[in-house]
Amino acid sequence: MENFSFYAPTYFDFGKGTEKNVGKLVRRFGGTKVLLHYGGGSIKKSGLYDRVIDALKEEGIPFVELGGVKPNPRSGLVYEGIELARKENVDFVLAVGGGSVIDSSKAIAAGVEYEGDFLDFYKGRAEINSALPVGVILTIAAAGSEGSTNSVITDEKTQTKKGAGSDLLRPVFSIMNPELTFTLDPYQTAAGATDIMIHVCERYFSNTVECGITDRLCEAVLKTMVYETPRVIQKPDNYDARANIMWAGMVAHNNICGVGREQDWASHHIEHELSALYDVTHGAGLAVIAPAWMKYVVAIRPERFIPFATEVWEVPFDSINPMETALAGIGKFEAFLKSIGMPSTFSEIGAKKEDIPYMVDKIFSKKEFEGHYVELGREDVTSIYNMVADI
Ligand code: NZQ
Ligand code: ZN
Repeated sequence: MENFSFYAPTYFDFGKGTEKNVGKLVRRFGGTKVLLHYGGGSIKKSGLYDRVIDALKEEGIPFVELGGVKPNPRSGLVYEGIELARKENVDFVLAVGGGSVIDSSKAIAAGVEYEGDFLDFYKGRAEINSALPVGVILTIAAAGSEGSTNSVITDEKTQTKKGAGSDLLRPVFSIMNPELTFTLDPYQTAAGATDIMIHVCERYFSNTVECGITDRLCEAVLKTMVYETPRVIQKPDNYDARANIMWAGMVAHNNICGVGREQDWASHHIEHELSALYDVTHGAGLAVIAPAWMKYVVAIRPERFIPFATEVWEVPFDSINPMETALAGIGKFEAFLKSIGMPSTFSEIGAKKEDIPYMVDKIFSKKEFEGHYVELGREDVTSIYNMVADI
């Protein structure tokens, strides 16, 4: 295990009805005027918006609001949010929604405190040294942004999707009521589940040895997702299944499963080009890319695919031909993704084979290799894209 520091101070308020505590939590974490940030309308349809407003009013907390965050959040609305927050002297950003709303909120929170262009953080040109506090009411289990240090934004000018990270971006509180996720359709539910699983895989496929504690945590999250995801797709209001998935989404990405080990992240970076270019749902893009990454990489470095198969997918170990075990695990994962309605090819997500060179150029614009478990060059990434574009 490698040395690490881990600072994850988010306060979690988990369970039924917890959104009613939002006013008190804003106050507890120092907010006196709130920017309420949300997406395209699901919170109004569900009645959550009204409950949040009531809770803020009850606590006497003034707010201004900015809705309209789109999945794969864009830079344009972030600029708008920064301007509004400054004009209104806001000192707290409240995100009500999923990863896109939370990431847009984090970008605003950091951008307000920065004199330059907030995209500098996402282009690796500046570090985040200060940010307004962000509070969250989560409505979809997926990105894990409710506990993570990250924010991913699409620069509308260049159609480039990039992440920024800082401990200052961890939400000060996250309200997680599994009931709020009952209204998710099966596609969003499954895409979220896929994202959660790949957040774990990016950490599990590591060259760092002797990380038994994080290996076991990763396996527990993956097994939980394998068990619970079909249950919520079958019965969207299964509270306990939704609750397990919601907490799994947080555990998968606040890095408690990743400390002390080298992490991979190739699948995410390869996918981000798809969601930037075609506005694909991130988890659906991962469902296409991650199995292809696995099939490509297993031939080069099969080691970690053995426990992935035996511990997560309960494949019996074939000591005479361990590669068979490794491949069987990947096969089970693919079958699982298919069973929950996820795509597996470019054509299903509207991606085009002729754009592959463009996407590869973008991935390698500033680096020679992608990923760590196996370092991939331009030709490798091109092959991975082609594996799913050719079908
Ligand atoms: O906009 P509304 O109307 O709210 O609809 C949303 C959106 O259309 C809908 N939705 C959310 N909660 C709902 C609901 N519909 C009905 N009932 C509910 N309770 O779901 C759609 C997707 O929402 P979004 O926020 O985009 O989903 P997700 O949480 O998957 O976030 C995806 C974004 O997070 C980024 C992704 O790249 C993508 O941009 N990521 C962020 C990470 C981070 N900050 O740590 C890590 C991840 O790897 C990921 O890259
Ligand atoms: Zn993700």
